[in-house]
Amino acid sequence: MLPSIDPTYTLAWKELEMLAHEMEGRHLKDLFAQDPDRFAHFSQTFEDILVDYSKNLLTPDVLDVLYRLAEECGLREATEAMFTGKVINGTEGRSVLHVALRNRGDAAIKVAGEDVMPAVRGVLDQMEKFCQKIHSGQHLGYTGKPLTQVVNIGIGGSDLGPVMVTEALKPYWIAGREVYFVSNIDGSHLAEVLRKVDPETTLFLIASKTFTTQETMTNARSARQWFYDNGGSAADVAKHFVALSTNAEAVTEFGIDEANMFGFWDWVGGRYSLSSAIGLSIALTVGYEHFAGLLEGMYSMDQHFRTAPFSENLPVKLALIGIWYTNFFGAETEAILPYDQYLHRFPAYFQQGNMESNGKSVDRAGNPVDYATGPIIWGEPGTNGQHAFYQLIHQGTRLIPCDFIAPAISHNPIGEHHAILLSNFFAQTEALMNGKTAAQVTKELKKEGKSEQEIRKLMPFKVFDGNRPTNSILAKKISPYVLGQLIALYEHKIFTQGIIWNIYSFDQWGVELGKQLAKAILPELGDETPVSSHDSSTNGLINAFKNWR
Ligand code: F6P
Repeated sequence: MLPSIDPTYTLAWKELEMLAHEMEGRHLKDLFAQDPDRFAHFSQTFEDILVDYSKNLLTPDVLDVLYRLAEECGLREATEAMFTGKVINGTEGRSVLHVALRNRGDAAIKVAGEDVMPAVRGVLDQMEKFCQKIHSGQHLGYTGKPLTQVVNIGIGGSDLGPVMVTEALKPYWIAGREVYFVSNIDGSHLAEVLRKVDPETTLFLIASKTFTTQETMTNARSARQWFYDNGGSAADVAKHFVALSTNAEAVTEFGIDEANMFGFWDWVGGRYSLSSAIGLSIALTVGYEHFAGLLEGMYSMDQHFRTAPFSENLPVKLALIGIWYTNFFGAETEAILPYDQYLHRFPAYFQQGNMESNGKSVDRAGNPVDYATGPIIWGEPGTNGQHAFYQLIHQGTRLIPCDFIAPAISHNPIGEHHAILLSNFFAQTEALMNGKTAAQVTKELKKEGKSEQEIRKLMPFKVFDGNRPTNSILAKKISPYVLGQLIALYEHKIFTQGIIWNIYSFDQWGVELGKQLAKAILPELGDETPVSSHDSSTNGLINAFKNWR
């Protein structure tokens, strides 16, 4: 069990409050002016990833105290507890071992006295063999055709990771393979995908840790019905449906042979499961060797996180910078801005990763917290975001720390596109830091031929202070390995923050209530009788729906 340590009672927290106070009125520009080598002092390269955190309101003193905060909150011990299989998910009584899924080391990792690594390797082996069978045409569909289309049916952690990774690794897709994802219970999602696929060549992956999730099971049953309606039979289900789950009993009950089940374990959180059997859609799409490359990258970042001192530890640094703004500057959100079209689902993936993990308001002792925890995570790929919401980041009333992520080498080097994209990447962090001075505005407007009076009138709108913090993450190229490193970087950032905020990051009780209520409401929608059992708003909405449908 993890100890409960209130971060606000640490010495470091008090010091950080003072340091934040001292930072008021200081400008990022001044920090750069004071230290000509600021970039060298506040950036770090790890293999093919460069993290520049110099454009933050940080001094060496602030960083030192942030590292001490991590020490005082027991981060080192908590990290070891995770990596060694201790029960750190206190409310569900579980270990948290997504790191075991990509472990390449020889040491045993024990849960309740049993080494989990043989079982982990066993499932990876099963996945590899299955990919070979599908790709070589050894496993064919019910009419003898190769299965070239994959439909992953899952939601949340059983969807977002595979969607994000298959999109991010599109340049690595095996020619002739197609992958589709159905997550929403809205029948339109399933219907649109089924319009694109052929029952004779489609493999359905039913991805659900629990195999009870309403959306996934309803979509799975409807997909199976579609398969029957289009020529498949119950006997053919074995060829066209496989399950990715921890729940063997429910899988068999659904009609999927246990031989077609790829298992994982309750110590894999849904939002941390893409390196488990949940990643089968990835392996089928890009090939098992690239899936393995992804796991290698994750492992390298896992090792870095586990062993590097805090002052050289990228996930720890990013976590502490986030805490600095969340808890000492009142920042409520963080934007993740990938300058890479293939990474377009990266923000959505870490929206779940972060918000489901650290969206908590009760500490590990069961008491309400009186400080801010997980921020709101959002973002879109650049440069689309620039033409949509960057205005508010530049000139709005809120402080929004941003992570800019870009590859130096594009998979599609067409003309000047990548140079233009990256020029925007560099320009935005520069603009967010520097803003625009009165002198710059005057010069610009004079050049445009504006009168003194016009310049005075426009000045307040055109001048802005800048001083908006950013991290820049520049990768050489988004390969499976580098993507794996980026994923693990953010996973461990979330872990670090959860430990410091003294919360449990690996449960998600908040999402249960809505599920329970929806189940109670569903039978009420079965007839036309008006309902009166809810509050007047809920009754009114249900009754309007009944009238209109
Ligand atoms: O939304 C809650 C949640 O439990 C997520 O944590 C999880 O990723 C998702 O539902 C799907 O769960 P399952 O894989 O069990 O279908």
